[in-house]
Amino acid sequence: MSSSSHGFPPRKLPASQSGLRAGANSQDGQKYILVTGSNKGIGRAICQKLLEEHDDVSVFLCSRDVQRGQDAVKDIEKQVAKGKGRLTMIPLDTGSDESVQEAVGIVKQYTDSLYGIVNNAGVLLRGKVQESNNVNYFGPRRVNDAFLSMIPKGGRIVNIASASGPIFVSGCPDPALCQKLSQPWTIQGGLDELDEIASEPTHCRNGDSYGFSKALVSAYTWLLAKDHPDLVINAVTPGYINTDMTQGMGASNPPSKGAVPPVWLLMSQDLESVPTGRYYGSDCKRSPLDCYRGPGDPVYEGPDGK
Ligand SMILES: NC(=O)c1ccc[n+]([C@@H]2O[C@H](COP(=O)([O-])OP(=O)(O)OC[C@H]3O[C@@H](n4cnc5c(N)ncnc54)[C@H](OP(=O)(O)O)[C@@H]3O)[C@@H](O)[C@H]2O)c1
Repeated sequence: MSSSSHGFPPRKLPASQSGLRAGANSQDGQKYILVTGSNKGIGRAICQKLLEEHDDVSVFLCSRDVQRGQDAVKDIEKQVAKGKGRLTMIPLDTGSDESVQEAVGIVKQYTDSLYGIVNNAGVLLRGKVQESNNVNYFGPRRVNDAFLSMIPKGGRIVNIASASGPIFVSGCPDPALCQKLSQPWTIQGGLDELDEIASEPTHCRNGDSYGFSKALVSAYTWLLAKDHPDLVINAVTPGYINTDMTQGMGASNPPSKGAVPPVWLLMSQDLESVPTGRYYGSDCKRSPLDCYRGPGDPVYEGPDGK
């Protein structure tokens, strides 16, 4: 797929404002990709990998904290010299409607079109169901709702889920909930019903708020893809990665490894001819929503037509 087929319009750079680093539209025919929560960890590694491997990509590195975002931009530019001029920091708190709307306004000063979004921002908050869902589930909902109209046909959305999602579903004591989260095509009320489920903390009976939020993200991905058949929309787990989120938990894989599956979902041409709305494992193979599938395990084929 050539970058020009997405019709990204070159535009004159706006004056640098609120401490932002300009540059995402400094080259014609760029694919603009927005990555949330990318001031550190897997998100930052995704930004870096995109700039290293794809000269036709410009990245909006999003951070809820301006200083942390600017530091990350400087850091990446030091490591990827050719990324200079293709990396722009956008202040974005995915937990806040207002912040997301402000971010849309800022991004539109650079471009009218996005090639893709990676909903990476996430928190591991045990027991705090509402706070967890506000970032992990409603965060991607907000960001996608706000930016979807900027993504033309063929564009891509990657929602960062987790193996904790299928693990939550496999241990879920509520068969009706389990069915909805693992077979989202049975959710009669669509996204509204999923929002209601996400807003009701009592659904998370075992206290695994993180697994609940990530199961919601994968079910959401299927519903979103159904509503947008012209786009390539998938969920993925990055694998078990050593970041601030997993500190002290024994994860040893570096963030660069966690960036591999999301970048594959963003850039691979293999995905142009397969149905979307799927959940992929860290080995870039389709995985079920109701039980854990490890890297190298048999690939999940899914029910017919789903
Ligand atoms: N590490 C793993 O093994 C693993 C496994 C499966 C899935 N994941 C998922 O991968 C994604 C990245 O995680 P990570 O391991 O890289 O964790 P991390 O190092 O803790 O990074 C999380 C990122 O999300 C940002 N963030 C949190 N809340 C936010 C909000 N409300 N608005 C905007 N940004 C926000 C953080 O910003 P601040 O610096 O401002 O806090 C940070 O940039 C998450 O969705 C996580 O659930 C990770």
